[in-house]
Amino acid sequence: MCGIVGILKSNSLKNEAIDILKKLEYRGYDSAGISLFEKNRIRTIKSIGKISELEKKSKKFSDKNFTGIIGHTRWATHGIVNRNNAHPFSDENLTLVCNGIIENYLKIQNRYIDIPSHIQSDTEVSFYFLSYLLNKYKNPDEAIKTFLKTIKGNYAFVIFIKKNNSFYLLKNGSPISLSHKNKSFYVCSDSSILSNYHNKIYHLKDGDIVKINNGNIKKLNNNSKISFEDNSVSQNPYDKGKFQHYMLKEIHEQPKVLKDTQLIYGSEFFIDFKAKFENLFNVDKLVLVGCGTAYHACMIGEYYFNKFTNLDVSSELASELRYKNISNNNKTLYIFISQSGETMDTLMALKYIKKYKHRSIIITNSLQSSMVREADVTIPTYAQKEVGVASTKAFTCQILSLANLSLEVGKMNKVISHIDYKKNIKILNLLPVKLKNLIKDFTPIAKYLAKKISLVNSCYFIGRNISYPIALEGSLKLKEISYMHSEGFPGGEMKHGPIALIDKDTMTVCINPNNELYEKSLSNAQEISARNGKTIILTSAKRTKKAGTEMKVPNLPKENFIDTPFIYSIPLQLISYYFALNEGTDIDQPRNLAKSVTVE
Ligand code: G6P
Repeated sequence: MCGIVGILKSNSLKNEAIDILKKLEYRGYDSAGISLFEKNRIRTIKSIGKISELEKKSKKFSDKNFTGIIGHTRWATHGIVNRNNAHPFSDENLTLVCNGIIENYLKIQNRYIDIPSHIQSDTEVSFYFLSYLLNKYKNPDEAIKTFLKTIKGNYAFVIFIKKNNSFYLLKNGSPISLSHKNKSFYVCSDSSILSNYHNKIYHLKDGDIVKINNGNIKKLNNNSKISFEDNSVSQNPYDKGKFQHYMLKEIHEQPKVLKDTQLIYGSEFFIDFKAKFENLFNVDKLVLVGCGTAYHACMIGEYYFNKFTNLDVSSELASELRYKNISNNNKTLYIFISQSGETMDTLMALKYIKKYKHRSIIITNSLQSSMVREADVTIPTYAQKEVGVASTKAFTCQILSLANLSLEVGKMNKVISHIDYKKNIKILNLLPVKLKNLIKDFTPIAKYLAKKISLVNSCYFIGRNISYPIALEGSLKLKEISYMHSEGFPGGEMKHGPIALIDKDTMTVCINPNNELYEKSLSNAQEISARNGKTIILTSAKRTKKAGTEMKVPNLPKENFIDTPFIYSIPLQLISYYFALNEGTDIDQPRNLAKSVTVE
């Protein structure tokens, strides 16, 4: 996991590489480094922590004397966070960066005596191994081919060899894309970033070895032509505008992106749904798969499909699915959900089910991602670039996709009537206005509740039915950005164990929509109050029975089943945000996390 960049020929290659690395920080920010290519030497600069540190260190070098650069931002997997384990690894002839994991690095390390035994990093072992091969083979191309044949794992490498003044790109599993114009080349592990530079792009395929030498580009693994496709320029998502953090900006963007998404689904995407998808949904079973927040979207989708269709539906964590035996007797459709389309666990689960010949849909925010290239059908979310590590607008757009999809399938299979279908679509169409008011009205309440949460040591979130995954997501948001100890539980399970955790230093947020489970969930909150636990009850119900230490929260807008996840998740996002703000944490880039986890 990590972000990599490479540039050949530009008037400002160091500044551009630093700028790209800053955009890649969502992939990790433990350490960073660059190698600059001078006529007769390779100069490498590394630093611990964020790119701003690297930027400071590299200030003294002007862009003038260099012909190329490679750079890296690291999320540590093998080897502690220190300067030595930072990429690039380089000597006088070779420099390289890698995104991914070389799984057989210990075998390689043990087999070649030239590789020091104290090395901890799989990439450093790869560096020594390639260096050994470059000494062994006269022709660097042969060394690279042998290197690729030997290493195992999911990776993308950018390599520069001074001897033949060549740039090599290697890919297996991890994404890497190349754009170019005349003799200038840009390489990056996130293709959307490249759209700011050139609008012609090539996404490397697994097994590719691309060599660039003196402006000429060719593939060494086969004779196929490198065909560049269009990659049009997008708006600048890195402008925070009036907001202090990307997360707050992205919370506020939700009414707009949900409106755009709903417009597109209504007008274009689901037209002729039957013709497009009838076969796909003609299955015995539906499985929704994702990680982290995307998994919570899967769980919410499970409730939608359960309500609006007659499909046998379940949700799975991608990191677990691939170790389960799955049958290829029954017809199963897998829907994968991933904001980035690059999460390695999800990508691997997708590849795994493909082996069993099951069909797949990917719901993603990144149309040029690896998962899009693997899945049978892509359903885009139109959240636009999400920069904050904690997912907000991408999550609600995922839920909106699932809501629309489940309604379309329910209508197609005649499980819901046309009237019910229309009624629910209308609710979704009205959602943006409702959410805009909700964000405005709930912001002062969120600030107030955030102060109350700072009085306790742990915070729990409970809910039943569709409110259960909302509770899990509320808890994940809080712990991700504030580091507060937090758990989410199904309301009915409290009495079977978790209630033992309750005392006066705990806060429990009860997600309690005004539906048939309202009274039952309220009882769960009262059981907590009876044990001196503090409670916040989020509800649209007009009158709540007053529980002992219950916090008075003004009513949320009246909800329906289909818009419940939106109306309750956004207040939880705001509470987490304002709590983390009071705690002074790094909200957009919380410790130990990364936006897109491209290792297993
Ligand atoms: C990481 C992020 C989470 C995200 C998860 C899945 O763990 O920190 O916020 O939900 O990956 O990401 P994806 O891009 O697959 O939706």
